Amino acid sequence: MSQASMTPARTSFPKDKIRIVLAEGVHEAGAKRLIDAGFDVVTLGGALTGDALAEAAADAHVLGIRSKTQIDGATLDGASRLLAVGCFCAGTNQVDLGAAGARGVPVFNAPFSNTRSVAEMTISEVIALHRRMFDRSGKMHAGVWEKSAAGSHEVRGKTLGIVGYGHIGSQVSVLGEAMGMGVVYYDVEAKLPLGNARACGSLAELLETSDVVTLHVPATPTTSGLIGAREIGRMKQGAMLINNARGSVVDVDALADAVKSGRLGGAAVDVFPEEPSRSGQSFTSPLQGVPNVILTPHVGGSTIEAQAAISEEVAGKIVRFINEGTTLGAVNVPQVDLPDQSDAGRGATPDARRPHRILHFHRNVPGVMSKLHAVISSCGANVTGEHLRTTADIGYVVLDVDPTDAAPLLDGIRGIPETIRTRVLW
Ligand code: NAI
Repeated sequence: MSQASMTPARTSFPKDKIRIVLAEGVHEAGAKRLIDAGFDVVTLGGALTGDALAEAAADAHVLGIRSKTQIDGATLDGASRLLAVGCFCAGTNQVDLGAAGARGVPVFNAPFSNTRSVAEMTISEVIALHRRMFDRSGKMHAGVWEKSAAGSHEVRGKTLGIVGYGHIGSQVSVLGEAMGMGVVYYDVEAKLPLGNARACGSLAELLETSDVVTLHVPATPTTSGLIGAREIGRMKQGAMLINNARGSVVDVDALADAVKSGRLGGAAVDVFPEEPSRSGQSFTSPLQGVPNVILTPHVGGSTIEAQAAISEEVAGKIVRFINEGTTLGAVNVPQVDLPDQSDAGRGATPDARRPHRILHFHRNVPGVMSKLHAVISSCGANVTGEHLRTTADIGYVVLDVDPTDAAPLLDGIRGIPETIRTRVLW
């Protein structure tokens, strides 16, 4: 791993020389945040592949991508300057996280910036299903005026059952209660009920109690097939099911049968066991053509507001990492949260000597810290702050030291065999 591209001797790397390449049409809010921080930002419309990806990676200090650009070990091998990867989305499967971590390259994402968007869509579906709104709209588009109250219900006073009371589930809880619904929830972990929501002791209890069940669990081996024919059989006659979580959670054949037979009153489904990889591709499902079933193409979290929030969140994490060394929110390296280095005495006058901050990724084996301390003390510097976090394989330590000569400090640290990557800020 080359560190030659890190901070050049005797000067902190100028911000306008830090090149950030944002691909895949990352929302402009993130680019603005990074430009305002003084970085050199290049924005590209499409995903990066092949030579274009290799070229961008070779040049960039930060790569910003969404879900389509794949960053594997080979890409990282050609990215000697790369300090961080920003995934401007919720998922990080498109990056080889282990390979990035082993090279001291943190990967940041925005897991919760689209929470409210999913919650709002879910609530809109609760009402739309109770009013059979999509069927009625479909008939109007087909030229049929069918004015009737048949099958239409208010949601006020109905029971909303939330499976998975995490970020999204708890937001749905607040919104559902605001509409006059009674809220029950089931979670494998103990969760604080919001408002008057009530925890159910089992999934079966929730299914038997709720007029509409909405799923907000992650895709895990235990949630795979969580709702099948047996669970649907426990639901109230005419109840509704909403799946805006993951396609693996529901048996769609069983769901389609239940709605066709009238056992369930309707369903809204945003996620499917198999989803097309690109917009415009064809899609088939047993749920197509079933009355009072709302189908959407995995857009629960897809709003302009969510895109802007994601973009700002990831850009903010990148700025903090480059300027301060903070890895809070990184998914593949130890998380260290730090105060702004300016608080530690960046000079009141332009030429005042500043304390140095050493950012050091290393292999997590015994003895590395004592080697680091020996190098620092050989430079005549005193350690004023030390923040260490480790995972099984990687250690990340941030050391604030008295002002000293950066060149021998960097040379000494790079000479430690366990060093993966280091930078010094001052
Ligand atoms: P979260 O991690 O905050 O909450 C998930 C909750 O589910 C946790 O409280 C967890 O304890 C609980 N849980 C896990 N296994 C369970 C089980 N077997 N039974 C009951 N509860 C269980 O996640 P968040 O942010 O609320 O998102 C939930 C899911 O929504 C995500 O994992 C993702 O799959 C999906 N999602 C869908 C989007 C869309 O566009 N449709 C967008 C964003 C997220």
